[in-house]
Amino acid sequence: MSINYQDRIPNNVDLGSNRTLQRALEHWQPEFLKWWEELGPKDFQVADVYLRTATSVDAKGWATYGYVRMPDYRWGIFLNDRDPNRRIGFGDSYGQDVWQQIPGEYRATLRRLIVTQGDTEPASVEQQRMLGHTAPSIYDLRNLFQVNVEEGRHLWAMVYLLHAYFGRDGREEAEELLERHSGDADKPRILGTFNEPIRDWLSFFMFTYFTDRDGKFQLKSLAESSFDPLARTCQFMLTEEAHHMFVGDTGINRVVKRTLEVMKELSTDDPLAIRNAGAIDLPTLQRYLNFWFSSSLDLFGSETSSNAASYFANGLKGRPDEAQYEDHIAIEQSYALELPDGQGGTKSENIPLRNAMNEVTRSSYVRDCEIGLKRWNRLIEKAGHGFRLTLPSTRFRRSIGNWGGVSTTPKGQPISAEQFGARQNEWLPSDSDRAYILSLMQGVSAPGKMAAWIAPPDRGINNNPVDYEYVKLQ
Ligand SMILES: [Fe+2]
Ligand SMILES: [Fe+2]
Repeated sequence: MSINYQDRIPNNVDLGSNRTLQRALEHWQPEFLKWWEELGPKDFQVADVYLRTATSVDAKGWATYGYVRMPDYRWGIFLNDRDPNRRIGFGDSYGQDVWQQIPGEYRATLRRLIVTQGDTEPASVEQQRMLGHTAPSIYDLRNLFQVNVEEGRHLWAMVYLLHAYFGRDGREEAEELLERHSGDADKPRILGTFNEPIRDWLSFFMFTYFTDRDGKFQLKSLAESSFDPLARTCQFMLTEEAHHMFVGDTGINRVVKRTLEVMKELSTDDPLAIRNAGAIDLPTLQRYLNFWFSSSLDLFGSETSSNAASYFANGLKGRPDEAQYEDHIAIEQSYALELPDGQGGTKSENIPLRNAMNEVTRSSYVRDCEIGLKRWNRLIEKAGHGFRLTLPSTRFRRSIGNWGGVSTTPKGQPISAEQFGARQNEWLPSDSDRAYILSLMQGVSAPGKMAAWIAPPDRGINNNPVDYEYVKLQ
């Protein structure tokens, strides 16, 4: 198979001059395409989709837009430009030169970090593969496919690092990234949340708002890495990631907007009446939010983590926006945690700051999540309603860490498992909530038309109108 890589795979890593890397990718690329055909978006492979493709890292114009069939998407490899003055920004080697090659002692750990990040990218494509048929509009259908092809490119980004810097081990890991599958009984994806199928568009918007935002914070931590190619790869991935969260943010915003219209038309906030009119009542929205926020929190790991401490000490993974902190060594400070005391109450404990790095990152994430809620609540307030969407406590419905398996109310008050069970349907989507949301999922394919449960977006993509033919169905 001969491919002109300079043409076929847009890149800024001089792919054409590296024969070893070319051969590795020549071997991997057909496997990737096979995976895409089998586990990528189901049934839309011949549709012409109006997609953006990354073609450079120029901040002023890094993407081009045009119709493309997804299997022909040009999955490229882009790293932010190298800063020759970049120094290690945190940990024990603070201030020294960053690494262009991997120090032997960190090889296994960095490989694990890259594989764990890489695994989430194709996982989300697999989770979302059935959503195409139930898109509330072709504007949304296009956004789904945009997110999907870019997650595919993020897989390429991680596979490039594995091939270019980890030799034979890296090539094997790259193959396994295509062998594990979301929800597979024998070879599941590495992280729990990425094994849950996404069957409805409300969950898709929650996923892109909350779970892609976890991705943002993981990438921000890795963008601080002393391993410079990893840092530069992640810096560029963040550029694309912003759109994924935009899809979630505006998606939920449009659901709220539509619900408020129906509440106004009917002059009621009765959930049943809202549902009878085909919209999503705000309490149901809150339950979906509780579910996706809490499951995304687990992705940051345990509050206390010796792994996180050594990633930080060794300069492998920093805090998001490390430059904003004053002390980049973080060896003398401590961090106060509120932990369950085992008797239905809480107790405080101070732990060394380096051991609390997962919690530091999780806290930044929570603050970032608040921004969307403020916006959605402003709509509700303007419409004259007292209801407010809120983020549950970070203790609520946790599976891992100090609060893992501890029953609490959404406000974080410890309660018994029986009390939790009795009120669970108030706080999390019930079977009947899920059945109702699924009943709304019917594809709308005429340009500019929207499903009844969601308002149209304020504007289209790339200055095109909302009723542009974003996907040409064959
Ligand atoms: Fe991604
Ligand atoms: Fe993403």
